[in-house]
Amino acid sequence: MNREVLRQLYYEIYGSHPLCESGFNDLIQTLKNAVQSRERQLKSLDEKKLQKDKWFLSNELMGMSLYVDRFAGDLKSMSSKLDYLNELGVNVLHLMPIFESPAGESDGGYAVSNFRKVDERFGSLDELIALRKEMHSRGMYLMLDIVLNHTSHHHEWALKAKQGDPYYQDYYYMYENRWLPNQFDEYMPDIFPESAPGNFTYDEACGKWVMTVFHQYQWDLNYTNPRVLNEMIDTILFYANLGVDVLRIDAPAFIWKQTGTSSQNLPQAHTLLRLIKQCVSMTAPGMALLGEAIVAPKEIMKYFGTDEFVAKECDFAYNATHMALQWDMLASGDTRVMLAAQHELLQKPYGTSWITYTRCHDDIGLGYDDYMIEQAGKNPYYHRKFLKEYYSGGFPDSPARGALFSSNPKTGDARISGSLASLCGLEKAMYDQDQFQIEQSIQKILLMQAHSFFLGGLPMLFYGDEVGYTNDYSYLQDPGKSYDNRWMHRPIINWQKNKRINTPDSIEYTIFHSTQKLIQLRKKLEVISDKSNLTWLTPHTIHVAGYMRVDQHKKIYCIFNFSKETAYLTWYAFKETGTSSGTVFDHWTEKEFQIGEDHEHLIIAPYGFYILESIA
Ligand code: GLC
Repeated sequence: MNREVLRQLYYEIYGSHPLCESGFNDLIQTLKNAVQSRERQLKSLDEKKLQKDKWFLSNELMGMSLYVDRFAGDLKSMSSKLDYLNELGVNVLHLMPIFESPAGESDGGYAVSNFRKVDERFGSLDELIALRKEMHSRGMYLMLDIVLNHTSHHHEWALKAKQGDPYYQDYYYMYENRWLPNQFDEYMPDIFPESAPGNFTYDEACGKWVMTVFHQYQWDLNYTNPRVLNEMIDTILFYANLGVDVLRIDAPAFIWKQTGTSSQNLPQAHTLLRLIKQCVSMTAPGMALLGEAIVAPKEIMKYFGTDEFVAKECDFAYNATHMALQWDMLASGDTRVMLAAQHELLQKPYGTSWITYTRCHDDIGLGYDDYMIEQAGKNPYYHRKFLKEYYSGGFPDSPARGALFSSNPKTGDARISGSLASLCGLEKAMYDQDQFQIEQSIQKILLMQAHSFFLGGLPMLFYGDEVGYTNDYSYLQDPGKSYDNRWMHRPIINWQKNKRINTPDSIEYTIFHSTQKLIQLRKKLEVISDKSNLTWLTPHTIHVAGYMRVDQHKKIYCIFNFSKETAYLTWYAFKETGTSSGTVFDHWTEKEFQIGEDHEHLIIAPYGFYILESIA
């Protein structure tokens, strides 16, 4: 990591731009300023992190994403909630966007009008810093977003562009007529086909067409202009110096546009990310980068870096493929599609890690490849149709209560909204007051969480899921949200409900304490650190997914039954991986089993799972 590599990357992108040389010199100055203003405590934390072999691979980390206002009210009140989070075992906190964003045109904070001012709804920058300091003193880590691809149309740059200032018009993609927009539109898919079709919006004020890939109020930044990159790196380093430990780079797949392409995942987008990584390594080496690339599996892998930049681009990516495949397994009771995807997912380079998750603030996209479905002997069109109907209420026997998000009549694509609990059947079971279904849906919630906690990577809970929040339909009354059904799974926390974690046998108690136990287990087992030590078992039954995690001290088998029937796993599955006899201890139920003959089986309850350690 050095200045020459940085220069090479900068010139790769801007070599033919008249501002290239001065832009590069300005960037170097920006880095020097960032180093100079980095607090001493943050520098010593950087050093501590660097002494560990990749601090962020640790099994002791456990994350949660939350909206400050919906979880706690504001930043000040967040500190009174840290005990609750620590009790659960969470020590990495992703605060959903808190920088200024116009109410009503906010996209949950992803339309930023001022990158350096905390929105008044949440509090102030000083309160954010105070919270971060308190978190650090408790050994917790902070994750924030940088919204790299676009700004709100109320951002100062956009306002100046609207007034006709050519300097700032060059910060965006703006055109006098539809000639270029038509060419872009031909190959660019619609991201929000229902609420924001097309990729351009006509701005009355300046009489130009502006690129708006997401909502019409989110203006895409023009990274062919080196000034834009320099400004955004300066912002990234500003966040680094606030003490951010993991920076979530929002929507990096979109940051470079080119006519004749989908304008996603282009090589220049990767060069820009490598450049950002270099700048961060030179100034705030303790800050890890998470690339939020929710794209096809092969493309996701490239965000870890390729060629001489392997493991030198993003430190983390979301394991969006596996997340969706867990939902596939849960609906179908069949693990084959998931297994067909693994040879690609296992290519992740050493030293990088996944964010593993079951739910987040976004929808579930069934973005894995058709060939994976075909390999499992299924028809991709009908299989996806089944999954969408299963989760959105169109399938007669399904207990799931979700909805389709962003249906595209042109392509037939749709994604899925809904909370973990509602998609696992808890909403329906509670409505029906069906105790058996309530217990089964809780079992499904725990199965989904356990599968993602032990898989390798940093598990990221979504707030509310730790106590089983079902869908919240109040968003329909708010015109700033009603067009976007992702709000159904972004609950407003009712602390009276959460207090029931202290009432034995309540739903909240059961889910909270079981989740807590899984987290404690994860923290106890060092073998669960993401050291590329995972092997999938041959399942011998399509209902069971099993993986083995091994280091020089321990061998752990994580076995999950995704079907509503009891499953039987031959003991031969263990012998194939070198455990031919002896005892296995289940950390979940705290029971021991003797490895039996090949024709004998480990019996797994419906939606049950084991975390087995080979002990003799
Ligand atoms: C990311 C965010 C999503 C947002 C989009 C546009 O995908 O996760 O919530 O709508 O970027 O910023």
